[in-house]
Amino acid sequence: MDLRLSQLHSSGTLMLLLVLNLLLWEKPESIPKCHTEVWSCWDPLVETFNSAINLAQIIRNLVGQIQQEFFHNEFSSRPFATILAQLMRSNQTVYRAKTHCHANIMNPQVHGTEQINVRTKKYLKMMINYVGAWSSPLFHLALELSAMPAVPETILSKANEIEKNNKELLDDLRWILTKAYPTAKIKENFPTWEHLPFIKSNNNDDKFLAMFNLCFCLRNNIFHTVNHLKTLKCRITGKDC
Ligand SMILES: *[C@@H]1O[C@H](CO)[C@@H](O)[C@H](O)[C@H]1NC(C)=O
Repeated sequence: MDLRLSQLHSSGTLMLLLVLNLLLWEKPESIPKCHTEVWSCWDPLVETFNSAINLAQIIRNLVGQIQQEFFHNEFSSRPFATILAQLMRSNQTVYRAKTHCHANIMNPQVHGTEQINVRTKKYLKMMINYVGAWSSPLFHLALELSAMPAVPETILSKANEIEKNNKELLDDLRWILTKAYPTAKIKENFPTWEHLPFIKSNNNDDKFLAMFNLCFCLRNNIFHTVNHLKTLKCRITGKDC
């Protein structure tokens, strides 16, 4: 009896030691080192890149959705169908609206071997202008839509959301530049949107043509933006390469 009790006692102690050991062992595993020493691994540059990439991905999803709605919602489906029909007939105005994207001149050409050659600071500055090129078009999209009496809430709210996210994305990039290159100077130079007079026009067909251009181009540009941001994050922070 005595023996069994002591056996029980010692196995209990063993168990306790094991559990304690596990807890002690587990602690550094489950809690990353950097959380025990505040700031040692929380990197604001990495966090801001993550935020920027996340914003760009949200914009990418929203643009896909708003484009679908423009084509299918009765608010705009007719003019959008007409635009497509004109495109089939090789209408030059519509063809240009679908293929000429104002921000493209700012798109950093970093394919293949060239990618190695574009210096990171210059690359980041180009990205600021590439993303900034959308500030004015998105501002006017939200403004003009809000003034159209028949606009559905689902389209208007997406336009507002895209504008807001693009603004935050631009701010993230500006912050990254000052943090990564504290002495860097940038002369922001956003390309002008040639469809601005169209979206401001009193003619609804012109307005919708501008929106058609905006959707196609932003959808294309934001796809590149996501990839550029990932490349820049790798180059500047060395993370997720
Ligand atoms: C081409 O499309 C534009 C914009 O929708 C329209 O104003 C113009 O009349 C069209 N031109 C022709 C020749 O159909």
